[in-house]
Amino acid sequence: MKNYMTIDGVPAAALEGSMRDFRVLEGVDLLARCNAFHEWQDTRRHSGTWPFSRATETGPAASCAVRDDRGNLCTGVNFASQDYLSLSSHPAVLEAAKAAIDEFGVHSAGSPALVGNTSISVALEDRLARFLKMKEAVLFPTGWAAGFGVIKGLVRSHDYIVMDALAHACLQVGAQAATRNVVLFRHLDVEHCRTRLQDIRKRDPKAGIMIVTEGLFSMDSDTPDLGAMQALAHEFGAVLMVDVAHDLGCLGEDGTGHIGIQDMLGKVDLVMGSFSKTFGSNGGFVATNSRAVKEYLRFYSPSCTFSNALSPAQVATITKALDIVESSEGAVLRGRLMHNILALRAGIRERGMDCYGDPSAIVAVKTGDEALARMTARALPELGLISNLVEFPAVGKGLARFRLQVMAGHTDAEITAAADRMKAAMQLGQARLDAGYDQTETRLAG
Ligand SMILES: Cc1ncc(COP(=O)(O)O)c(C=O)c1O
Repeated sequence: MKNYMTIDGVPAAALEGSMRDFRVLEGVDLLARCNAFHEWQDTRRHSGTWPFSRATETGPAASCAVRDDRGNLCTGVNFASQDYLSLSSHPAVLEAAKAAIDEFGVHSAGSPALVGNTSISVALEDRLARFLKMKEAVLFPTGWAAGFGVIKGLVRSHDYIVMDALAHACLQVGAQAATRNVVLFRHLDVEHCRTRLQDIRKRDPKAGIMIVTEGLFSMDSDTPDLGAMQALAHEFGAVLMVDVAHDLGCLGEDGTGHIGIQDMLGKVDLVMGSFSKTFGSNGGFVATNSRAVKEYLRFYSPSCTFSNALSPAQVATITKALDIVESSEGAVLRGRLMHNILALRAGIRERGMDCYGDPSAIVAVKTGDEALARMTARALPELGLISNLVEFPAVGKGLARFRLQVMAGHTDAEITAAADRMKAAMQLGQARLDAGYDQTETRLAG
């Protein structure tokens, strides 16, 4: 038996600690040592402060039902799905996916290096390259695979990677897998990146260097000066790689994201992205101006070479989504999305909360302290807001936030409800914390 202090029935252990505590595990038994994490997770799960691994009952609609991993159902406005232009339920997209299944079946049945391509995947690579005003594009099974693969495919152990400190996990893991020579520069800081490059060039004038950044950072909703970064790459004989997972398709007049907004179309050395945010499907890509690079990636990027190609239904979904993104309907959807984004950001601020960064489909509401964030997350289902809590390792400790992801399909009423409910949940969470420890609960350990 163990004694637990509780706040409104939530054990202190659920409000303390973070996933960081279980990153490095000791002990010979690789399986048994997972137990400590599971015990901590269970303490959170059973106190309603583990808002992860939930499942939609209805698909990612603007209002929907989700079931948590204890089996509890919550219905509410959904700001936790990534479907920025609401294309995953667009009738033409659904129709295209069904037609592809009728024509090609459900499976690509091979790696793109072998015979996993279909005529429609080959055509999609071409379409994508043209959309980005690049010469070539190569598809990957997921955005994660593309981010990992472009780095691991091109960078060798004697090369260097100079990376924005907040780059996505797929880029960080790809960098670690490619070389020990990984240096981070301060988020968005071009001058700090220059210092890093100068240091490397002093030591090693002949090394290959890849600079890695994002078009729109997915936790902070901010953007580097891509022109300055590319100029820096040229100056130091490096190449620039930009991950456009969160801005391609949904930002910019023509949907080309920050690369287009900053007049850099066709001018960035390497562009990688994901289809999972705006294009209604799993999948990723790398675009380049070199046929040699495309071919090299196909055969030396392990997450492409040794992984099954996108399925025909996925390719058809992405292709139809790209048709819409490039059409006048796409422009209308982006207009609707931006209207929703601005309304939500204004609603958050009017209610005395704050959000990170610049207007994008990611409206990250500042929370900070993990205890407050978890108490707030616990209140959200009662209030009918489905939103993702982001805490370590996705952001630093003490920088927890709620990431509201806006869709073109949200109505004005759903936007207002999200702002109202976010505020109410945060107030409730704070009030419960302020009330302090209310009892000592005794329960079985383990
Ligand atoms: C910046 C960034 N890059 C890459 C990915 C990976 O994309 P996918 O979900 O398609 O694997 C994500 C998704 O979380 C992301 O946010």
